[in-house]
Amino acid sequence: MHPKLIELEKSFDSSTLTQIIDPLLEQKQLELWIKRDDLIHPIISGNKWRKLKYILDHALQQEAHTIISMGGAYSNHLHALAFVGQQLNLKTVGYIRGEQPKKLSPTLLDIQKWGMQLRFVSRTEYRELRHYKQFDQLPSLQQGEYWLPEGGATNLALQGVADILPEIKINFDVLCVPCGTGTTLAGLIEASTDKMMIHGFSALKGGSFLTQDVAQLLTKETENWSILLDYHFGGFAKTNQQLLSFIENFSTHHAIELEQVYTGKMFYALFDLIQQDYFKPKQKIIAIHTGGLQGRRR
Ligand SMILES: Cc1ncc(COP(=O)(O)O)c(C=O)c1O
Repeated sequence: MHPKLIELEKSFDSSTLTQIIDPLLEQKQLELWIKRDDLIHPIISGNKWRKLKYILDHALQQEAHTIISMGGAYSNHLHALAFVGQQLNLKTVGYIRGEQPKKLSPTLLDIQKWGMQLRFVSRTEYRELRHYKQFDQLPSLQQGEYWLPEGGATNLALQGVADILPEIKINFDVLCVPCGTGTTLAGLIEASTDKMMIHGFSALKGGSFLTQDVAQLLTKETENWSILLDYHFGGFAKTNQQLLSFIENFSTHHAIELEQVYTGKMFYALFDLIQQDYFKPKQKIIAIHTGGLQGRRR
């Protein structure tokens, strides 16, 4: 690992596991624990650090001076990348989906402040950028520039996600994680044993393609995983009052903040499934808090 990254990681905390105490869990004889990756760092939190760690190491090994990536106006990925780029003295460039708005989102204001150069591209151009999956594939790339696909979805990201498992110091049966590109889920499946069941929760409507995408990222054949597709609340970043009330209640009762795009939907789904006896009595469930709380600001 590059010394700059070792230094950066020294101040991170990835050790917390919080048990959720709730009458429903007691009634169903289940244990629910949250792996608090939201507490890793105030900005590079959740799955962002997991996915970026080995990618940044690779970029530094390649002697890259600039990392170029892509995302939407509320992208947690670009937010973490811009901050970490500043910390590591790397230049960063972000291709942003859609026309430049009159008023930048809080996410874009942050990333601009941290020195990321913003390049607004049309939705068509943005979709084209998705074709470039390797760090050296972007056609316009200059010497010293490193391309990072949307959401940091690369094989190196899986390695960082795999680091989560040995940090969970209790035995468990079920592991749950929200899915956008499915990369975090794939990293967990790669590192899992057959005794664990891994569930992904799609944050997108029509997420059935995710099953194939995740399978393609895997280097092993295994059946200990599934993706739940029906808790998208109308689509990516869509919400309704039921979801927002759930998030507020969760924060009041358990003192843990969730956001409406990923973690809120997963925890809503989990409680719904628990209510429907989806899990077997005595099972221990771990849900990964993938952070992303900055994205709540609109
Ligand atoms: C907070 C949060 N949780 C979960 C995810 C989903 O991760 P993945 O794209 O690896 O499925 C994302 C998106 O990257 C995210 O920002």
